[in-house]
Amino acid sequence: MITQLLLLLLLPLIEAMDIRRLDAYPGAQCLDGTPGAYYIEKSSSAANNKWQLFFEGGGWCYNDKDCANRALGQLGSSSDYPATIDRQGGVASSDCDINPTFCEYNSVYMKYCDGNSFSGALDGSVTVEETGQELHFRGSYILDAILEDLVKNEGMDEVEELNLSGCSAGGLSTFLHSDHVRDKVQELVGRPLSKYGSTPVSGFFLMNRQNVHDEFVMAEQMKTIFSLSNATRGVHQACIEGTPDTDQQWLCNTAPEVLKYIENPIFVLDSSFDSWQAGCIMMNKAVEYDDTPTKDMPNGNCGSAAGWEECAAGPESCDNEQIYGVTEYQGSFVRLLTGAQGYQNDHSGAFIYECFTHCAAGGDQYATIAIDGVLMKDAVDSWWNSIGASSTKSFLPKLYGLDSTNPNASC
Ligand SMILES: *[C@@H]1O[C@H](CO)[C@@H](O)[C@H](O)[C@H]1NC(C)=O
Ligand SMILES: *[C@@H]1O[C@H](CO)[C@@H](O)[C@H](O)[C@H]1NC(C)=O
Repeated sequence: MITQLLLLLLLPLIEAMDIRRLDAYPGAQCLDGTPGAYYIEKSSSAANNKWQLFFEGGGWCYNDKDCANRALGQLGSSSDYPATIDRQGGVASSDCDINPTFCEYNSVYMKYCDGNSFSGALDGSVTVEETGQELHFRGSYILDAILEDLVKNEGMDEVEELNLSGCSAGGLSTFLHSDHVRDKVQELVGRPLSKYGSTPVSGFFLMNRQNVHDEFVMAEQMKTIFSLSNATRGVHQACIEGTPDTDQQWLCNTAPEVLKYIENPIFVLDSSFDSWQAGCIMMNKAVEYDDTPTKDMPNGNCGSAAGWEECAAGPESCDNEQIYGVTEYQGSFVRLLTGAQGYQNDHSGAFIYECFTHCAAGGDQYATIAIDGVLMKDAVDSWWNSIGASSTKSFLPKLYGLDSTNPNASC
């Protein structure tokens, strides 16, 4: 009883975000046709001029059956969304020790229920033969409806500084929509923002890359969802215009390609040997789709490439020869990143660590991972403060040792 009373007293102190459903925007639908949604926590200290928008992650679905399965859960339907959620950690945290840059910003968490990183733009719906479900691919409309609702109803009409972030599939969303969000918000408020930048967390997936057995497993998956969700007009339009071959336009649904076209300040937070990419891109195994309801990959099986099952658990489990493959992956990662125009622009940069993790910048490791003595949270802070002033400093990873040692002690 006393415990319950104490809990009641403590409850108002817990940071909670409240739901807003997009019922007023009929085109903003999750996979199953329910309205999209977002969560919001207004800052108690900042006025309405500072905002951080964060894209939820959760992978992708890759064909109609796979998406039909996804439509039954929270990543494809808003029907079971709770009224409140806890605020995210890391770069979205309200704790100023962990997140000195954005702790006092108004915080928005954009729920991911469209299957393709807020990019789908399909008119009408797709009927799944086996189950009779109607699937809607409307992610780009959900994003626009969120921005419109924030400006019209939540006070974001006063925005001056806007920070866009997201992790995993939400990190990819951050790359894909980095320029669009600024354009759209400026259009809605009718004036330029004084400061804008994006921080994609663990979203730089090397999707157009073969696995260790030379098969393009991830690429085939992304090609399929790009086409199924009719995402051509939901991704970066300069990328589409720069890619006249329609067979190649799916690449505009991937971060390395889109980064060539991004114009706004961006600071990439990622691992050069990300634990999700290791299993689901590099060591993914091609398999036939087998209708298993719990299976989340229609034509791939993460971490199952023959002979690489142990290495997929982390670099310390890779043998000498496999470590060559890992360092080659790290090299490709850095080459694709640093070669892209969007990275080379003034006021853009990156903090790329060696830790075998995924979404580290969305949690406590945001405040502990360091490169050459500089903490990730401090690198982000100095980047954000350098926009419009000095140039941005990047932090790039070292390669793993051939004896499988990680060169970074802060992992
Ligand atoms: C798909 O998107 C294109 C624009 O890229 C549009 O012209 C077309 O009408 C859309 N088709 C459907 C079925 O949504
Ligand atoms: C966005 O916010 C995240 C988390 O607070 C931060 O790490 C990142 O640097 C910010 N980026 C921009 C461009 O605002």
